[in-house]
Amino acid sequence: MKENDIKKYYNKKIAELRKHNKFYFDQSSPKISDKKYDEIKREILNLEKKYSYLTSNISPSNSLGFAPSKNFIKSSHRVKMLSLSNAFDLEDLENFEKKIFNYLNEKIDVEYSVEPKIDGISASLTYKDGLLVLGTSRGDGMIGEVITENLKTISDIPQKIIYKDFPKDIDIRGEVFIKKSDFSNLKNNFANPRNAASGSLRQKNSEQTKKIPLNFIAYTFGYFESKIIKKQSEFLRSLKKWGFKTSEHNKVLKNINDLENFHKNFEKDRFDLEYDVDGLVYKINSLDLQKRLGFTASSPRWAIAHKFSADSAYSQIEDINIQVGRTGALTPVARIKPANIGGVVVSNATLHNEDEIIRKDIRLGDTVKVERAGDVIPHVVLVDLKKREKNSKKFVFPKKCPCGFDTIKEFNKITKKYDAVRRCPDRGFDCEKIAVEKIKHFISKEAINIDGLGKKVVEKFCDLKLIRFPQDIFKLDYGQISKLEGWGELSVSNLKYSIDQSRNVSLDRFLYSLGIRHIGIENAKLLAEYTKSITNFLNFIKNKKFNDFLNIDGIGETQINSLKKFFENKSNYRIVEKLSSLLNITDLKVNKDGKLLNNTFMFTGKLENMSRAEAKSLIEENSGSVVSSVNKKLKYLITGEKPTTRKVQQAKELGIKILSQKDWLNLLD
Ligand code: IVH
Repeated sequence: MKENDIKKYYNKKIAELRKHNKFYFDQSSPKISDKKYDEIKREILNLEKKYSYLTSNISPSNSLGFAPSKNFIKSSHRVKMLSLSNAFDLEDLENFEKKIFNYLNEKIDVEYSVEPKIDGISASLTYKDGLLVLGTSRGDGMIGEVITENLKTISDIPQKIIYKDFPKDIDIRGEVFIKKSDFSNLKNNFANPRNAASGSLRQKNSEQTKKIPLNFIAYTFGYFESKIIKKQSEFLRSLKKWGFKTSEHNKVLKNINDLENFHKNFEKDRFDLEYDVDGLVYKINSLDLQKRLGFTASSPRWAIAHKFSADSAYSQIEDINIQVGRTGALTPVARIKPANIGGVVVSNATLHNEDEIIRKDIRLGDTVKVERAGDVIPHVVLVDLKKREKNSKKFVFPKKCPCGFDTIKEFNKITKKYDAVRRCPDRGFDCEKIAVEKIKHFISKEAINIDGLGKKVVEKFCDLKLIRFPQDIFKLDYGQISKLEGWGELSVSNLKYSIDQSRNVSLDRFLYSLGIRHIGIENAKLLAEYTKSITNFLNFIKNKKFNDFLNIDGIGETQINSLKKFFENKSNYRIVEKLSSLLNITDLKVNKDGKLLNNTFMFTGKLENMSRAEAKSLIEENSGSVVSSVNKKLKYLITGEKPTTRKVQQAKELGIKILSQKDWLNLLD
């Protein structure tokens, strides 16, 4: 097909998607099945993958969630309604736990609350003084639709609760769903029970909602403060007592092997349940631990959804390519003979990492079972050894990155094991492959945030050599871009506008945007607070004062080494200098209404069950600040185990209050 025809075809698919989005989300009346809808989405994604010049605002590759419908009044969630990250196998579960230990900086015995993942629509119910005052849908996670009246038609949802221990102000969250048996009467109108629940719940007229038998199972809270309830399992028990329905399959389990076994058995029996379940949710049972672990941008660190196996198919591996990620991770991807998996044509499947290939002994030419679930990247589950050719050879994982650098495997000090992932050592922008990924990171929402420059466009501009380094973005030749296919006057001026807008950026976001390994948003904030301005920051770097950063609570050897490595590379330094001259980098703003406003703290000694980073963010969340030396400006010195005598002495001399970790936590309630 010619480029023009491909575009025409792509635009047709986009128009189709737009039409069905409208039916589904605005009118709650889908005209095609979920499977057909997914097929359109998948086709669009595949086309974009194949032809980098194809882009669209409404492409599934661009949309983060679904905006609330125009039919309802909107309401901001007091606590965001995020989604869960997914696990498919034991390795994913082990990684989940490993990340928790890394974050907490200690290995602990974990207890999990295990709950079925009901495949319905989530809703949030706000109760004040025992009365249901607001009911909302998830919306885009930040803002939901007010559907109180519709939710009130559900008999499982209590409207008045008179228990003494029922919190005065709480958001209770759970899943709205239709039982499989009830769905059989509605089959002609909806593709599946989930669609039927969504359609019913989002009717303009609650009388319509009443007609479809909806159910509600409660499983978590949004806004809620409790000193009495300490565990998720206790919360579930309380929910039941207060009159909510909870799943009768909820359980507490202690280790990953038990989770895996329970999952195996549950998966077999899931079809006997009276509602659709697409996996199990594992939540760290201790609410204190949940609080400590907190959230990443999209999901809680303390929970994961262990999905049931989805549709799968057998196909043959034609090639294995190595993709390079932003941190230099080499990810092998199997190119397979196109196979129809649950109505979607799949031609790529991830092989995760080198260890996975070794463990499963995956080879070129092998016939493999490929699985896909929802929007998740298809992956290879097993090799059909009976079909293996006699002369097949083990796959040798390349020891060099496609850019030519030797690769490495890192040693994790906490797990005391080598990583499964092989990496191109992070040398900043020298590796062309890493550079493209770094530029994608540079423009992303939490970083510089260039709206009009999507990831696909970055790939295309890099391909066309319009961009090689991030600073090139600010010197784009718009005349040349307007000559490119698909770039009309309007899109060029939109692009220029959003690039110009992004020139104002706070120091923390700027430092984060550089994509230096181990310098995520939190660490970038710490560095920005410490160095105050980009000029200061660059002076620290120029004068090689990296070790000064050790004074920052939360910054340790790992971060310092990573910064050193990044800036040892002259071209990286030049890039940062160049960017600082092209951008207007401002100091960062701080939260000004917390309990600890105008209070300064410093730590000495080891804190119990808490890393310094965590302690610092706790103080900052409450508007306090952390300083790194004992002087008159310091208000409280917090002492952990084995505090430095000199610091305590100095504090005493200056009349600074000395708090134990417990005293300090009491200050915070
Ligand atoms: S907890 C911060 N528990 O799964 C996440 N979610 O991908 C809080 N779901 O939007 C969700 N059963 O619609 C949780 N027992 C359960 C669940 C559950 C189903 C859904 C929910 C959520 C999605 C997360």
